[in-house]
Amino acid sequence: MADQYAHSGDDKRPTEIPAIRWEEPPEGPVLVLLDQTRLPVEEVELVCTDAPALVEAIRSLAVRGAPLLGIAGAYGVALAAVRGFDVEEAAVALAGARPTAVNLAVGVRRARSAHEAALADGGDVRQAAAAALAAARQLHREDAEASGRMAEHGLALLEELLPGGGHRILTHCNTGSLVSGGEGTAFAVALAAHRTGRLRRLWVDETRPLLQGARLTAYEAARSGMAYTLLTDNAAGSLFAAGEVDAVLIGADRITADGSVANKVGSYPLAVLARYHHVPFIVVAPVTTVDLDTADGASVEVEQRPGHEVTEVTAPQVPVVGAEAGGGIAVAPLGTQAYNPAFDVTPAELVTAIVTEEGVVSPVTAEALAEVCARSRRA
Ligand code: MRU
Repeated sequence: MADQYAHSGDDKRPTEIPAIRWEEPPEGPVLVLLDQTRLPVEEVELVCTDAPALVEAIRSLAVRGAPLLGIAGAYGVALAAVRGFDVEEAAVALAGARPTAVNLAVGVRRARSAHEAALADGGDVRQAAAAALAAARQLHREDAEASGRMAEHGLALLEELLPGGGHRILTHCNTGSLVSGGEGTAFAVALAAHRTGRLRRLWVDETRPLLQGARLTAYEAARSGMAYTLLTDNAAGSLFAAGEVDAVLIGADRITADGSVANKVGSYPLAVLARYHHVPFIVVAPVTTVDLDTADGASVEVEQRPGHEVTEVTAPQVPVVGAEAGGGIAVAPLGTQAYNPAFDVTPAELVTAIVTEEGVVSPVTAEALAEVCARSRRA
């Protein structure tokens, strides 16, 4: 297929997009989020002054993506503590805001444990709140650092699997700066390939129904200057059949002990296509996404989202009409039932490799995954 399909990003703003930040204005500390529901049309910030506001931002996907959910959860606990709210109540609400990405519960637990430990050590509420905030900041830094290391390991893996460069990489959902303290997971690897002249094109699945690929990954790709092309999710099959995909790179919301990968719905069909067409299917995720306490893919709770996300169009570029159901433009008869799982699960046998900041797991086995997690705990 000719390169006429590639759009070379010409938006030269920095590739690192601060999706979340802690601020301390005179009125009191706040958590500032880039509202991802408004992208790419508007760069609007949401200011959270308490945990319920953050829970709402998480549910509405104003803040989203596994690593960023972890960071947000940790800051949410700190916000409750610093502002004198009930930390326990905030932690429970935050951890339960969305069920699939394990990072959310992990982030909440980190800040809450730091808070509890400070109190147990005889600290007062101010010291405990400071400990929770320090834990959130530490997680934020660690995630940025993990992102850089995943990019290095991922680039080396691409070189090993596909020597010589010229990669045409297919990705799904959104995995760049918008989901991370750094440059992301799968997208960070594509970015590293782009910077070293090895990326020929990033194929971006639009990612129905909420269009994280079209709205967010294309936004990130345009800023990076990489050649990218958007496709409907349905077009992936013919793209593989045409021999246009050299590798699939995706992120993960939860990787279970047996190496099953829960990620944005539509990932599993790509893994099946990749296997049929003998194309590597690579998952890029920090160790914080590996959940050794969940035995297998069947045990993952897959979030079910409201049907109106499927039966109506609510993308920000479309003017919203009416207040019925989701308040969007109907694309199905009123009252149509929708099947709308937010994630699916890919079994380990379809995954060529899992790239973490601690190294590459390939072949994907329970033992190798446990080893990479143990390495992270030792570090
Ligand atoms: O529903 P979302 O937008 O939060 O889903 C996000 C994804 O599925 C991402 O692919 C995943 O969190 C990995 S992000 C590095």
